[in-house]
Amino acid sequence: MLVGYVSDERYLAVGDVLVEFEREGESVAVVRSTPRGAVYADLEPGPYRVSLCCSGYGAKSVEMVTDAAQPYQFRLLSDCLLGYVWPKWVRSGERSEFRVHAVEPYHLSVWRYGYRKEHVRDIGWFDEHGPRATMQVTPDGDYAQTGVEWNKRGYDNPHHTQFVTGPERSGLYYLHAKGESGAFFSFPWIVAPAAPRAKIAVICSNINWNAYNNFGGRSNYIHPEGLPAAPPLNARLDLERYQKTGFSGFRYPNDHYPPISFERPEIGCHVPEQTQVTDPIAGRQASHLAPAEWRTLGWLEREGFEYDLYAESHLHFGQLDLDRYRVLIASVHPEYVTVPMFDRIKSWVHERGGRFLYLGANGYSCEVEFLDAGTMRCKTQMMKEDETGYLVDPTDPACYESRMQMVHEPDGSLLGVTCSALGLMTGAPYRVIKPDHWVFAGTGLREGDLFGAASLQERCPGGASGHEMDRISRYAPPGTELLAKGLNPENGGAEMACYETPSGGAVFAASSITWPAALLVDPHVSRITANVLSRYLGE
Ligand SMILES: [Fe+2]
Repeated sequence: MLVGYVSDERYLAVGDVLVEFEREGESVAVVRSTPRGAVYADLEPGPYRVSLCCSGYGAKSVEMVTDAAQPYQFRLLSDCLLGYVWPKWVRSGERSEFRVHAVEPYHLSVWRYGYRKEHVRDIGWFDEHGPRATMQVTPDGDYAQTGVEWNKRGYDNPHHTQFVTGPERSGLYYLHAKGESGAFFSFPWIVAPAAPRAKIAVICSNINWNAYNNFGGRSNYIHPEGLPAAPPLNARLDLERYQKTGFSGFRYPNDHYPPISFERPEIGCHVPEQTQVTDPIAGRQASHLAPAEWRTLGWLEREGFEYDLYAESHLHFGQLDLDRYRVLIASVHPEYVTVPMFDRIKSWVHERGGRFLYLGANGYSCEVEFLDAGTMRCKTQMMKEDETGYLVDPTDPACYESRMQMVHEPDGSLLGVTCSALGLMTGAPYRVIKPDHWVFAGTGLREGDLFGAASLQERCPGGASGHEMDRISRYAPPGTELLAKGLNPENGGAEMACYETPSGGAVFAASSITWPAALLVDPHVSRITANVLSRYLGE
């Protein structure tokens, strides 16, 4: 019978895995997985203890029950260095558990990522008496839904607890894991202040980091609708997305998408050991996740703006009181939002004078719901189920502007701008449209001048208007002004815009994912952002 499949942490088939089935302490079958990871064995139906081993992966034993109708999903974890803290967001004084996967002794230390990387403290060396005992295992099945459950088994010794306490100073912290061999992996830790200190709150887009995290084989971009029944062997040849023209993973109704757990390592947030904030952002995912948001924080510190850092989760769960702040900053790619988050920001800006710098694009365009603090679901339907057309197209007045509008409100009613695919994945400078506006004070820029050609983003090089870009929304509040526009193809350049509210609130939208990557290297992008921030702070 086909008992099941063996796959790795990317949900790719693993062949030639030696698999032993035991029942009541007796070995009853030893087989090998096929190239497609399939495990065939002549077995009576029922419960078994199954042991799996394969070179390059951690061996493990699991208890399972055979089911001819539903092949079992055995999951192996490759030998590498990975880690995450849980929770990934805390307030100063609260503690997180660090969960590291290593097959060699490793050293762990805490760093703060501001304009410089500051070494905060060493946690120590980790090794174990047991061979490879710092190696973690993953659960079987679709653990992108449930989390990797590291440190869950065999971590009961009270002298070997693995906790780290949130430092006094708020900020973006990283844990550095360094193996004896020189292997290096870094993972972020968002530390909010115990109580508000600065006038500026910066919010990290940790929901977006999770939506794009494909660890375990699923994200909101790969298999958002759930894992296929059998693991692929070759992604290009086996996955529907590469085999079917017009394929969209966003064609299912919103209640169809299984959860995505935060309790997974985030490979896309890794920052290489030697990288400094003014270096180019290496990597495709890094260019729009935590490493890109670090550039915003580095710039704030270089320019002398004090800030308190929060996670989006803090705002959702009521741990960020916007009324204690003058200015809120979100940057890079804050695509996903919960309804309470959206409503809190909007009422603060529109009714209570809050000022919001939106230094990114494709913001708040899709609703997410939390099932608990560690699990979310994306309401990501964008296309008709029969694939006959898109439900979302900001350029078509007959369509919704965004997924957010389909379920709650248009994101443009808060941001003034909204995203579409025009000019997608390109980069370009902006052209000045309103040179006399205060945002351009001190820049010397005149109408038609270009600025923002420099950028640290290597995924979509070419300028501060890039990667994904927003244009002024049909639902933009009255008085929304267009200040500059990117020169990207298809007339798809970012529309830099701002508006003010009768309550004294204001929003500035850079409308581009690559804007923060230009802050540290383009003097005009820096000056414009500083002008907005100073004015919004009332300085
Ligand atoms: Fe996106």
